[in-house]
Amino acid sequence: MNIAIIGSGYVGLVTGACLVKLGNKVICVDNDAKKITALKKGILPIYEPGLEELIKDNLKRKRLYFSSSIKEAVKASEIIFIAVGTPDSGSGEADLTGVEKVASEIAVNLKEYRLIVEKSTVPVETGAWLKKTVTTYIKGKVDFDIVSNPEFLREGSAISDFMHPDRIVIGVESKRAKDIMVKLYKPLNAPVVVTNIKSAELIKHASNAFLATKISFINAVSRICDIAGADIGEVSSGMGLDKRIGRSFLEAGLGYGGSCFPKDLDAFISIAGKLGYGFRLLEEVKKVNESQMSFLIAKIKDALWIIKDKNIGVLGLSFKSDTDDIRHSPAIYLIKSLQKEGAFIKAYDPRAMEKAKVVLSDVKFCRNPYAAVSGCDCLLIATGWDEFKKLDFVKIKKLLKRPLIVDGRNIYDPEKMGKLGFSYISIGRKGA
Ligand code: UDX
Repeated sequence: MNIAIIGSGYVGLVTGACLVKLGNKVICVDNDAKKITALKKGILPIYEPGLEELIKDNLKRKRLYFSSSIKEAVKASEIIFIAVGTPDSGSGEADLTGVEKVASEIAVNLKEYRLIVEKSTVPVETGAWLKKTVTTYIKGKVDFDIVSNPEFLREGSAISDFMHPDRIVIGVESKRAKDIMVKLYKPLNAPVVVTNIKSAELIKHASNAFLATKISFINAVSRICDIAGADIGEVSSGMGLDKRIGRSFLEAGLGYGGSCFPKDLDAFISIAGKLGYGFRLLEEVKKVNESQMSFLIAKIKDALWIIKDKNIGVLGLSFKSDTDDIRHSPAIYLIKSLQKEGAFIKAYDPRAMEKAKVVLSDVKFCRNPYAAVSGCDCLLIATGWDEFKKLDFVKIKKLLKRPLIVDGRNIYDPEKMGKLGFSYISIGRKGA
């Protein structure tokens, strides 16, 4: 099929590249002309494992195109995905300005039947607004359908998540729309859930909110483990083996960050409130998440006593491993808080340093983990990159001014760290 993706950000690029992989011809559009010029040369604005290769290969094979023109894309494509950003408007509510603009521009360019698919994460009832908008701006009598097809892609494993989804959610109002979408995703051979548009929109918000709730739940339990002397790893393994609970998203640590969970939770609370339901459970999930970071700072203070003038080597800047994304990254929050208390920060991240340099000042960015810990009073693990799991700790111990490791991701074995001679502090586990 011929497909247009409007919005060449994270979701748009991954969706576009993967739909090409499924045998379709895709045109990705963005209103940022510089981004499009770079993409035409195979230069990506983000790091996602495997994406650059996929895009470069399909540019060469002329199955993937980039353009700044919605008009051109609408003309060429049977299916038009809207994948523009839906940022926080400032009050928690999703800002749908971009979605509305794109919808009206699609509408003025509609000449024959098209399927307009909302891919961006949007609050329930956006589909109804999209339909009204397109109907308002359309010239003459042209048929169209609106579909909600939320994405569940995780940064760092987005291509594999797209190619092997647990389920595909399609919210439709007509059989024609359903048939086209089912055909599009047939090669994936995955379970397809067909619902109405509002249910599909809610599935996305509810799924992300539930996952965030799981994380805050286990983080709250980790606090009890800390006080009682239990081990959060053992507790979450014991809970996770119950099939009704499941093992995933039960890793205690610095809490969730990234471009989705914090924003989607706020947007879900906001739309629920607008509809007349005060989602207090989710307010609490947010509070637990925020408190994890101050909890870690308190642990650092407990170990160092005075933070002022101490050198802290931070490993990890991205919000999680395998991505260069620093949006709502606990690492950035921690660094800023420690700097406020007068600490000097050295930092290293395998991918996220360029982006971190834009938002952090007075940080010494280092070329490798060893340079970042050299001469420091404390090593702080803020992101659980694989690279940090394989460090030479004999060397690290020699480089540190004092052998103190504070691990916000629980990536090391406390017993081993103790044997190596470190003071080791982690979350919800006995220290060494
Ligand atoms: C998330 C959703 O998983 C995805 O379906 C949605 O489409 C976009 O948002 P992403 O933000 O890329 O994806 O990352 P994810 O792997 O879900 O992790 C989110 C955050 O939770 C990260 O900060 C991660 O470190 C944290 N996390 C995750 C935990 O603290 N503990 C866990 O057990 C799992």
